[in-house]
Amino acid sequence: MSTDWLAQAVSQSKSLHPYIPGKPITQMLRELGLSDTEIAAQVSNTIKLASNENPYGVSPKSLKAIGQAATEAHRYPDGDCFELKQRLAKKHGIRAEQLLIGNGSNEVLELIIRTFAGAGDEVVYSRRGFIVYALATTAAGAMGVAVPESDGYMHDLNAMLGAVNKNTKVVCIANPNNPTGALLQTSALQDFLDKLPSHIVVIIDEAYVEYVKNEIADSVHALKHDGLIISRTFSKAFALAGLRVGYAVANPILLAVVNRFREPFNVNMIAQAAALAALNDEDWVMDKVAKCKAERVRLEAALAGMNCLAAPSFANFVLFQHKKSAEVVKKLEQKGVIVRPLAPYGMPDVLRVSVGTPTENDAFLAALSKVLP
Ligand SMILES: Cc1ncc(COP(=O)(O)O)c(C=O)c1O
Repeated sequence: MSTDWLAQAVSQSKSLHPYIPGKPITQMLRELGLSDTEIAAQVSNTIKLASNENPYGVSPKSLKAIGQAATEAHRYPDGDCFELKQRLAKKHGIRAEQLLIGNGSNEVLELIIRTFAGAGDEVVYSRRGFIVYALATTAAGAMGVAVPESDGYMHDLNAMLGAVNKNTKVVCIANPNNPTGALLQTSALQDFLDKLPSHIVVIIDEAYVEYVKNEIADSVHALKHDGLIISRTFSKAFALAGLRVGYAVANPILLAVVNRFREPFNVNMIAQAAALAALNDEDWVMDKVAKCKAERVRLEAALAGMNCLAAPSFANFVLFQHKKSAEVVKKLEQKGVIVRPLAPYGMPDVLRVSVGTPTENDAFLAALSKVLP
């Protein structure tokens, strides 16, 4: 008889479900039943607007740095990410000790939750917050407390405050939020932080902050709380999702504790070099952010015109709705466009489309107009 490995695993394994990412292009084409030759022919005709990536490709400076760093790949990377930390410290006007670099901000989030929450502890997040908060909490053996939004989209900070109790160790808030796209103002966040005991860790996840740079204050300096951790990523505006780099800004004493859980060489050398170069290619990055914001306005207007815009967004994606959303996803895929169903977030009628290039957005809108009744 074969072993029941789920029974052997730690008890929280039973409530864990793997993260479902945006569907890669080749997987979608395989699911449509295409042969390997047909897939190879179709890849360039297919558009993935499902993972909020930067659609303009890697920045020229990052690309050059990747080539150079690759020649050193027989060596271990700098486990402390010295140069990247120095550059980030300069960017934010902080000390290098206030930074922790991760293999994507996903790793940073997991490390923080694992460091502070275990059996008997609670982690508070929004019901329609980024799903990794719930996964990391369960994996750590802690209990997740998912708080409903005030209007289905916006974090309800009062309700979140009400969910905090003596067992609460961590609160996670994405701003702007994924998947709802909603934005909390700095004053509302500071008001929330002021009402929390200082020992509670609060993660403000700013994966999409570059898209609202001028709409909120710089939280690294504006927000105050002893247990405050601001997380950022190179996966969105900085166009390096495939290389996996993210970071946290926090009190160095707090970060030194999180650092105990970090794997020694968690960020590879190509990723470190590419991230450093992306920071030095700020004009390229901000140009692509500006293009994305202009296209978001155009997409929102077009979706509103089709009577399916679900909510305004402050990030690089837009939400639209349809009662038969699974059917819409399938038909869009048949027309070569991959979007993200939000059923796993408890929004069965809502779909999320990442803002692509103007050509990609035109193709999406043309496909959608044929798919909608
Ligand atoms: C709100 C939010 N936080 C964190 C992440 C993780 O990003 P990464 O691990 O690529 O840095 C994502 C990715 O989609 C996200 O939407």
